[in-house]
Amino acid sequence: GGDAPGMNPAIRAVVRASVYYNLKVYGISEGYKGLIEGDIKEFHVRSVNKILGSGGTMLKSSRSDAFRTKEGRAKAAEQLRNRGIDALVVIGGDGSLTGAITMQEETGFPIIGIPATIDNDLSGTDFTIGYDTATNVVTECIDKIRDTASSHNRLFFVEVMGRESGFIALRAAIATGAICAMLPERATSLDELVATLRKGYRNHKTSSIVIVAEGNPNGGAIEIANKVNENYNDYETKVTVLGHLQRGGDPSCADRVLASEMGVGAVEGLLSGKSGHMVGVINGKVQYTLIREALKET
Ligand code: F6P
Repeated sequence: GGDAPGMNPAIRAVVRASVYYNLKVYGISEGYKGLIEGDIKEFHVRSVNKILGSGGTMLKSSRSDAFRTKEGRAKAAEQLRNRGIDALVVIGGDGSLTGAITMQEETGFPIIGIPATIDNDLSGTDFTIGYDTATNVVTECIDKIRDTASSHNRLFFVEVMGRESGFIALRAAIATGAICAMLPERATSLDELVATLRKGYRNHKTSSIVIVAEGNPNGGAIEIANKVNENYNDYETKVTVLGHLQRGGDPSCADRVLASEMGVGAVEGLLSGKSGHMVGVINGKVQYTLIREALKET
């Protein structure tokens, strides 16, 4: 699925922990596509040099239609068994983990998941890998937008990612002092939004920022700005859609540490016989949750 900053430190930790425990470890290119096609290479301790601080994923990623079929998943398990591989570590979000657990249920091949997505939309962990970095990037961008907003007395609608989840929007709203966050989890009506803006204006607020989570029920930032402008014009209005900027960049310290803990936790979990689980960090401790449970809630 989608890349997330911190995937590289997770890959590194899986490789280094495997070497530490005298296990053979392989890297699979482009996710499930590479798995089905057999793009699988043995890794060594130095295969993951100098990736700890870089964004994206050195293994590359893709969206695989073949893996959505039962035949594709059977072929994937066969590729692993043919090489004498006895467990698979999957790093990704809900789509990747759903694919992984479905493969295990159908083929009996042991897997363990590491949650990595900027959306933070999985339970079984306080934070997913990539969320901290993404919210830092969003905060930095909105701080910059704030400079223009205050210089020109403007109202900005800033759209952020998160799919069906409002974690990025809410955290960034708190960090930047936005007047409102439009979230998928708690619908804010446009009337409510306009009332909040009017109140701010009456209280001598000379500029305002509204953060729009892409999955909120009122639509994207452009659509909301147009609708608001139909009957509200105290400020000149501008829209910024942050897009894939949010998914790039070097992982933050918090994401490097989280990914390292989870990578080691995945290898140690497999060694202790865990399978069908996702490794997470809850209240600072590594924990294991059944993937089906982790997928139930966001
Ligand atoms: O799941 C991560 C994410 O960045 C979402 O926040 C966003 O909706 C989606 O992926 C975008 O996917 P793509 O990169 O395929 O356009």
